[in-house]
Amino acid sequence: MKYKIDIIVGARPNFMKAAALFNEKDKYSSIEFRLIHTGQHYDKILSDVFIDEFNLPQPTCCLGVGSGSHTYQTSKIMMGYEKWIEDHRPHICIVVGDVNSTIACAIVAKKNGITLSHVEAGLRSFDRTMPEEINRVLTDSISDMLFVTEPSGIANLANEGHSMDGIYYVGNVMIDTLVRLKPKAEAVRYYSNYDLNRGEYAYLTLHRPSNVDDPKTLVDVINNIEWMAEKIPVVFPIHPRTKKNLIGMKLIKRLELCKGLIMIEPISYIESLSLMINARLVVTDSGGLQEETTYLGIPCLCLRDNTERPITITNGTNTLIGSNWELFRNKVVSICNGSGYDDKPCIPYWDGKAGGRIVERCYQYLIKN
Ligand code: UD1
Repeated sequence: MKYKIDIIVGARPNFMKAAALFNEKDKYSSIEFRLIHTGQHYDKILSDVFIDEFNLPQPTCCLGVGSGSHTYQTSKIMMGYEKWIEDHRPHICIVVGDVNSTIACAIVAKKNGITLSHVEAGLRSFDRTMPEEINRVLTDSISDMLFVTEPSGIANLANEGHSMDGIYYVGNVMIDTLVRLKPKAEAVRYYSNYDLNRGEYAYLTLHRPSNVDDPKTLVDVINNIEWMAEKIPVVFPIHPRTKKNLIGMKLIKRLELCKGLIMIEPISYIESLSLMINARLVVTDSGGLQEETTYLGIPCLCLRDNTERPITITNGTNTLIGSNWELFRNKVVSICNGSGYDDKPCIPYWDGKAGGRIVERCYQYLIKN
């Protein structure tokens, strides 16, 4: 008999995390690792491309839920995953991150008496207007094994009354995948496709509802991006949510006409990592990019009021901008003039081995239960 572990992916940021777990599979012949793809993201460039790049197996099960309201998406995933486990019950369900697929499968697994592991547990922005914060708090509240990336996660879980017995500080699976694929990304030099030079451009990503759903906020962001593009070329792969809103709010033309702004379709992980490694600075509202820039030592300006990843500020290169555009402009100028590259201490366990620690812990659990 083989033990069965389901690993859930749905949206773009899940694939690099799942990849770090699948990378361990050859060490455990008694475990069958199954990739379950909910279909929350379905465009090739937001989903399938990662399966190839990370050398992930084809999904054992595709739920094909697609886009919709949060209720629609979450409930469809729940129904689909429940049907899957009726006939293919796993011993452990591993969910990663904080997207709708995470909470949906977590509820189904737990209610069906399956051991639930959450990778990236304990992160808190304390901002419950963020859909991801609701997903984090709820997923952690029912998880049996809580795998934590940074010390704040342990403190947050302890404050919420979790027993230390189920909390494991294992490090960061995002960094595992970064470490593994960095040499490939370094070889790509993706910036040269846009006639840019190493260290002489900014890399921008933007997709949070708090930045792109409200017209007034989005106009503020665009005004400042236009200002930045006069100082330094800006490469901007545009997320479908952002594109849809820019078109709907009739703002896309403005960006297309902005000299210095290179707006491109979404790109693959290797392409994105290549742009990040060689950028002068990164401007983003992504959680993953805050961590990746910290590991790489690239200055990061985060267009959010808060972060669930405070270690990227205390031990890293991240600055929270929120709507303080004066701070933003001062930072852009000083980074362009060469600041922001001070040595920072390494973060314990962000060493490329987090996936190994997680799978070993799961294996120990399986042989004892
Ligand atoms: C989701 C996650 C977010 C994560 C982000 C990364 C939740 C609540 N949010 O946000 O945490 O940072 O993924 O991308 O789970 N769309 C496409 N093609 C696709 C998928 C979506 O065009 O393959 C478009 C659709 O118009 C859709 C919109 O993007 O309505 C938003 O997609 P959705 O999955 O709802 O959320 P994201 O904004 O991508």
